[in-house]
Amino acid sequence: MSAEPILPSLTPPAWEDIFGNANPVEVEIGPGKGAFLLAAAQSTPEHNFFGVEFSRRRVYRIKELIEREQPGNVLALAADIGCVLNTLIRPESVTVFHLYFPDPWWKRRHHRRRLFRGDFCVALTRALVPGGKILIATDVQTYFVEMVKQLEAVPELAQFPWQRDQRNRNGKLILTDFERQFMDAGKPIYYAGFRKKA
Ligand SMILES: C[S@@+](CC[C@H](N)C(=O)[O-])C[C@H]1O[C@@H](n2cnc3c(N)ncnc32)[C@H](O)[C@@H]1O
Repeated sequence: MSAEPILPSLTPPAWEDIFGNANPVEVEIGPGKGAFLLAAAQSTPEHNFFGVEFSRRRVYRIKELIEREQPGNVLALAADIGCVLNTLIRPESVTVFHLYFPDPWWKRRHHRRRLFRGDFCVALTRALVPGGKILIATDVQTYFVEMVKQLEAVPELAQFPWQRDQRNRNGKLILTDFERQFMDAGKPIYYAGFRKKA
């Protein structure tokens, strides 16, 4: 007797059905309070922006910002990106993944809670369109080295030189909340960009 699956397999929705247009989609993982997500969406209206944030409280805050600013090209979902990557996002459908200041989970016994483990980088790569990008930033050098090592291990990815350069209408760099704090405090920040080979 063959075992029946507990759940039927789900077909991820098309971004077009979510946003109502076929524009490229950028996903921010863990947008926190949403400063980067909102500003990036406003500065790039020809793209759609999708934030996946674990903290429901922070997503409520982002939703308040969306209601206030009415950008029209940004949505936020309260969920775990690991689950979302495996169920909601179609292969080859995301143009950019933004992953800024992921929780380092300092204690060794907590490392299993880190995003960068298992097949996370493979799942990100699968979701990228050919030529799509993964952009990372952190203030934690040891975690940065580990993240780069895991991304380098994916044969479909190639690292490219990347530095934060996106500016808003007033010419100010678009930063995350953590990034602004660390910059103001003069702390080093480590950046890396990876592109999926076409
Ligand atoms: C250190 S904060 C950085 C927030 C923001 N990126 C910034 O730079 O200001 C990390 C964020 O990632 C979120 N997060 C952690 N694990 C997550 C997961 N598995 N899926 C989605 N979001 C997650 C946390 O709730 C938190 O808001």
